[in-house]
Amino acid sequence: MRTRTLGSSGPAVGALGLGAMGMSGAYGTSDDAESTATVHAALDAGITLVDTGDFYGMGHNELLLREALRGRDRDSYVLSVKFGMLRGPGGGFGGADGRPEAVRNFLAYSLTRLGTDHIDIYRPARLDPAVPIEETVGAVKEMIDAGYVRHVGLSEVDAETIRRAHAVHPIADLQIEYSLVSRAVEADVLPTLRELGIGLTAYGVLSRGLISGHWNAGQAAPGDARAHSPRFSSGNVEHNLTLVEALRRVAAATGATVAQLAIAWVAAQGADIVPLIGARTRERLTEALPALDLNLTADDLAEIEKAVPAGSARGDRYPTAFMSGLGVGN
Ligand SMILES: NC(=O)c1ccc[n+]([C@@H]2O[C@H](COP(=O)([O-])OP(=O)(O)OC[C@H]3O[C@@H](n4cnc5c(N)ncnc54)[C@H](OP(=O)(O)O)[C@@H]3O)[C@@H](O)[C@H]2O)c1
Repeated sequence: MRTRTLGSSGPAVGALGLGAMGMSGAYGTSDDAESTATVHAALDAGITLVDTGDFYGMGHNELLLREALRGRDRDSYVLSVKFGMLRGPGGGFGGADGRPEAVRNFLAYSLTRLGTDHIDIYRPARLDPAVPIEETVGAVKEMIDAGYVRHVGLSEVDAETIRRAHAVHPIADLQIEYSLVSRAVEADVLPTLRELGIGLTAYGVLSRGLISGHWNAGQAAPGDARAHSPRFSSGNVEHNLTLVEALRRVAAATGATVAQLAIAWVAAQGADIVPLIGARTRERLTEALPALDLNLTADDLAEIEKAVPAGSARGDRYPTAFMSGLGVGN
């Protein structure tokens, strides 16, 4: 797999990354054995960036990765870990904690769960409105100085926050939602990243499966976060799936699947962008990998954007209660 470098200070990684969130219940039940096999298949295919969060399955995701990565050369993969989201035993979310003492505490637990002596990219999952970003990033910088962390990353913050954080310590990458149906980053965030030499790891490139070509209205089961997502809700999803059908026609003409086209479109937006693949099965991973080999022409890209024009999706990308925690809109 070709590599891409995360900003001017970050590591070189395989041009696609693996996001492990779906392996810990975000999309309903998952199977640990199949998740582990998917991690192995991803690494064997040349993926090196593996993204997790300490709150994914309240530690389950890190423990799963610890086992899946056991025996692999620690320098052969790059661990990206998000911290700061507070959860309860029932799984509910309780805001973000970016206090320096919390950063040190979260890190101590993550290192233990992951069974490693360092994390490659450590990032607050969301801005804590009560704590200046300088303090949170300053605490990560201290952990870099102490040898526990290699790089600072950010997640879902606006351009102003990126500048403030970058002034404290060079930021390797921003993780943020970016897809054909979520293009808000293009206005201010992406130009700011490029000005400062910061990479972008794009999540939700398939809009949680909505634009994967495999989604049907009414498919979200209880326990699947998509059951509460406005984009998937009745009244919106039907419209959004008409966009997918338009994309399917372009995909057929290019000999690709819908998911491959959607991933390739994100990858084509710049060599500074690494799309994260949210596969939790080898079958989905196998479909996603060839996306990198699609050499989309300017005409192809224009056709894709004609099928799914910017801003054409209906519904917010998160439930209302979560929208205020995001750096950009839809
Ligand atoms: N920083 C943040 O705030 C943030 C937020 C969310 C996620 N993330 C990270 O980004 C990663 C990816 O995000 P996401 O899950 O929202 O991404 P996504 O790739 O847009 O959606 C993944 C969903 O699409 C389905 N899908 C259908 N065809 C697929 C294919 N060929 N390849 C991959 N998936 C396919 C998946 O599998 P099934 O069909 O098996 O359901 C899954 O349900 C997460 O795992 C996490 O690490 C970060």
